[in-house]
Amino acid sequence: MAAKQKIIIDTDPGQDDAVAILLALASPEELDVLGITVVAGNVPLALTLRNALLITGISGRTDVPVFAGCDRPLKREGVTAEEVHGATGLDGIDLGDPVLRAETTHAVDFIIETLRREEPGTVTLCTLGPLTNIATAFNRAPDIIARVKRIVLMGGAYFEVGNVTPAAEFNIYVDPEAADIVFRSGADLVVLPLDVTHKALTSRAWIDGLRALGTHAGEAVASWTDFFERFDTQKYGSEGAPLHDPCVIAWMLRPDLFQGRHINVEIETGSELTLGMTVADWWGVTKREPNALFIGSLDRDAFYALLTERIARLK
Ligand code: RIB
Ligand code: CA
Repeated sequence: MAAKQKIIIDTDPGQDDAVAILLALASPEELDVLGITVVAGNVPLALTLRNALLITGISGRTDVPVFAGCDRPLKREGVTAEEVHGATGLDGIDLGDPVLRAETTHAVDFIIETLRREEPGTVTLCTLGPLTNIATAFNRAPDIIARVKRIVLMGGAYFEVGNVTPAAEFNIYVDPEAADIVFRSGADLVVLPLDVTHKALTSRAWIDGLRALGTHAGEAVASWTDFFERFDTQKYGSEGAPLHDPCVIAWMLRPDLFQGRHINVEIETGSELTLGMTVADWWGVTKREPNALFIGSLDRDAFYALLTERIARLK
């Protein structure tokens, strides 16, 4: 078995973030989750923080600290997605109030301190939302960039184009300046865009299988997916919805399930029309330096089998 990987999960829960976090916390043999850092995104920070505490509570992994981060993008007004995730950002099963409490350290300080403490090249940043916390940490402490092992991020789109505008995917669109800082940073990037997440569609059979587990975690994931998928099935007319963020954690666990190309990807920050577009040189038509492994496809059935096997470990 490969050595255990140290990761920080940066997130804006969000039902799909929730499934990704549970997948990570149910995989302690492979992943050492040093902390969960929360950012404003799908819903405002107060709610993404509350949701992260609720999700960690469900997992039983009360050893994993949760940190509140940036409550708005670097330079723009925040954009949220209650129409997709509901007013709470985690609509589905009623989880009551969080039992766990957030740390007092700011998420950006935690990211900086952790990267300065841990051996260089040993910590992976797994980002599931807008990149505001990461970019702020890089701006405040440029020395940590070279210490990052890699950034595995859900964001962007090329062949799938945008989901929040015709050109842009939500995580990049919310904070394009932050994304530009990360994509230009020189850090080793693995990008899971809509091109692959739109091939990771849920199914009724998979959701029913989760309910059949008879566990609280299984019921929670089934209820989140039932809620979350209504938006995409109405919009795209598909049977199921794309489980975007779990693709990041699944890549960490089973990179062999994914295929992509090492290409140049840059972020549009100047044009209002295409703001937040990930301009991916998939066909190598420019001389721009490749800076990201851009994932285009996955083994969908193996992905969902992995998800079920790990969620089944939780109570
Ligand atoms: O575009 C999909 C991304 O935006 C996912 O991370 C989802 O949680 C939302 O944050
Ligand atoms: Ca997210």
